[in-house]
Amino acid sequence: MKGLILAAGHGTRLRPLTYARPKPVIRVAGRPIIAYAVENLLEAGIHDIGVVVSPKTQPDVAAALEGHPDARFTYIVQEDPQGLAHAVRVARDWLGEDPFVMYLGDNLFEKGVAGLVARFQREHPSAAIALVEVADPRQFGVAVVEEGRIVRLVEKPQTPPSNLAVAGVYAFTPEIHPIIADLKPSARGEYEITDAIQGLIDAGRRVLGVPVEGWWKDTGRPGDLLEANRLLLQGMSPGVEGTVEDSELLGPVVVEAGARVVRSRVLGPALIAAGAVVEGAYVGPYTAVGPGASVCDAEVENSILEERARLEGVRIYGSLLGVAAEVKKHAERPQTPRLILGDLSRVEVPE
Ligand code: G1P
Repeated sequence: MKGLILAAGHGTRLRPLTYARPKPVIRVAGRPIIAYAVENLLEAGIHDIGVVVSPKTQPDVAAALEGHPDARFTYIVQEDPQGLAHAVRVARDWLGEDPFVMYLGDNLFEKGVAGLVARFQREHPSAAIALVEVADPRQFGVAVVEEGRIVRLVEKPQTPPSNLAVAGVYAFTPEIHPIIADLKPSARGEYEITDAIQGLIDAGRRVLGVPVEGWWKDTGRPGDLLEANRLLLQGMSPGVEGTVEDSELLGPVVVEAGARVVRSRVLGPALIAAGAVVEGAYVGPYTAVGPGASVCDAEVENSILEERARLEGVRIYGSLLGVAAEVKKHAERPQTPRLILGDLSRVEVPE
């Protein structure tokens, strides 16, 4: 069985974070989102992994996937992303006649995908689709299930026929390929995987709906990243490998090797990644301080600091700082914020 991770999208809803880097390489709880997908596939016994990238996303995605010796990666370039089924079509030659798991590179699953893969291998359906009950399924694919079989599937319906959302992992036999080859673009101009699966159903094939165990997160918007960060930090086992001096660590805290915490208080769940420095500071719950980032004479809670981000002399909450982004105090007149913001950046200041 092969794995196919989709990582060619533009991540427009996460701008400006995604101007410089693709969504699957954004870090949550200290690691690129796509690294969790790889681990989940490996845990399900899948080592042959195709990664669908665009020419623009390939270098960052490849860099984020370094350090997985058990995985064999093949990069498949999708020049002009036109939907999920289009990505499968582009990967057609590499997939050959193998069954495969398609995994959306921006989705996170607490309990991985081994359960879905095991059912697919045991019950031999034409496809198995992960489903989650959600309060408002209008922004997802929505499934109607009868006795464990999906009998209908619609993409982002205004009036959802059920509350079962399609989560971002799917197992397929090669029967899906001829259906994708004949697919027409949807109203939004994309080749939809939901339409292809509906094609399987219409052809009388068996498509299983497999309930997701544990939490699932589609990281479409900034708030989703913070929530995913909270969920992942909560599940982390604490441990200190870095240096901690004159400091207090309370609750579950990870201080990775090469990180330094000096004259500070860290209240977990929190992660201080390799090479990060926390000095004269407070790092509060649900904060991930990325590799090489620094928090000096500052306070931060419920936030993500990417690699080499810097926080100095200020207090922030519920914030996302991109790679090498900087927030610091200045002492000059006028005593107002001074901002250098890229397109679509967002700053909220208290009254
Ligand atoms: C895609 C699929 C949708 C699925 C969702 C899960 O939507 O088209 O059926 O429910 O992923 O994340 P997208 O988020 O790409 O709009």
